[in-house]
Amino acid sequence: MSHYQRGILATPVPAQARHLFFALESVADLPAALDRLTQWLAGQAAVVGLGESLVKAMGASINGLRPFPALAGVGVDNPSTQHALWCWLHSGEGDDRGDLLNRSQALQALLAPALRLVMMNETFRHKTGHDLTGYEDGTENPHDDAAIAAALVSHGADGTVGGSFAAIQQWQHDLQRFHGLSAGAKDDIMGRRLSDNVELEDAPISAHVKRTAQESFAPEAFVVRRSMPWIDGDRAGLMFLAFGFSLDAFEVQLRRMSGLEDGIVDGLYQISQPLTGGYYWCPPLQDGHLDLRALRSA
Ligand code: HEM
Repeated sequence: MSHYQRGILATPVPAQARHLFFALESVADLPAALDRLTQWLAGQAAVVGLGESLVKAMGASINGLRPFPALAGVGVDNPSTQHALWCWLHSGEGDDRGDLLNRSQALQALLAPALRLVMMNETFRHKTGHDLTGYEDGTENPHDDAAIAAALVSHGADGTVGGSFAAIQQWQHDLQRFHGLSAGAKDDIMGRRLSDNVELEDAPISAHVKRTAQESFAPEAFVVRRSMPWIDGDRAGLMFLAFGFSLDAFEVQLRRMSGLEDGIVDGLYQISQPLTGGYYWCPPLQDGHLDLRALRSA
């Protein structure tokens, strides 16, 4: 599989990145803006995803794409903050934040007046890919062919193969609360031991890795996670990001985390809360450019 947006599977996550979320302002100007976006992306380290409202504005539909559901769980809420377009801009050589700012502004300019930036999150890689709680994130990600099989659409109409679906949630941690817990209580929340990342055999059923164990779903629910930490003043957390050939694997995981399967809520909610939620379709590439045939053949 060669025609997919490279940033989806590139490891490790970039040292610095930006998540940019855009609202649709002018349907009439949208086709021209998407043409400019298609050209621009060819030279960029970035992943672009389209929300269902934008796809509808183009008179099209993408099988499996839907808005992020506002999921009320057992005492926990997963808000939906769906936007029309999302761009995950990766830092290039030099890992320069100033460079990311300049590239963001160039993107804003080329999408105007069709689309307007409404939300932006700056993220970074912590150590070799750790969450700010200190736990390594991404250990159980599939690799190589298994990553391709989990993250990318493998069959379908022209303009869909090589595409992917992204699920994004910004989580805000209560790190003071977390660091007030004993080492054992922290490990029980995650289901892994902080000191050596070994999975705990006797972790409680609420442990995060028990809730989300990918082989434990029927069908198995594999995703490729590309989450990165964020800090904004005195607030901090994880920008959770997962890619799948459909949105279903993420959604069954989130439902179980939220207690909707068996009433048991993931321990993570004791120390972190989701603030946002969005679903985006990441079109494949054709000759290095975004392949938007699925929007135009409708
Ligand atoms: C505060 C937010 C979150 C944090 C800090 C977090 C952290 C972690 C950590 C430390 C692990 C263990 C190492 C690894 O395999 O990566 C893990 C595993 C995992 N997480 Fe999360 N996670 C968060 C949210 C989510 C969400 C929202 C989902 C999906 C709905 C999810 C899905 C998974 C999956 C599928 C695994 C691997 C499970 C397995 O098969 O062993 N995580 N996460």
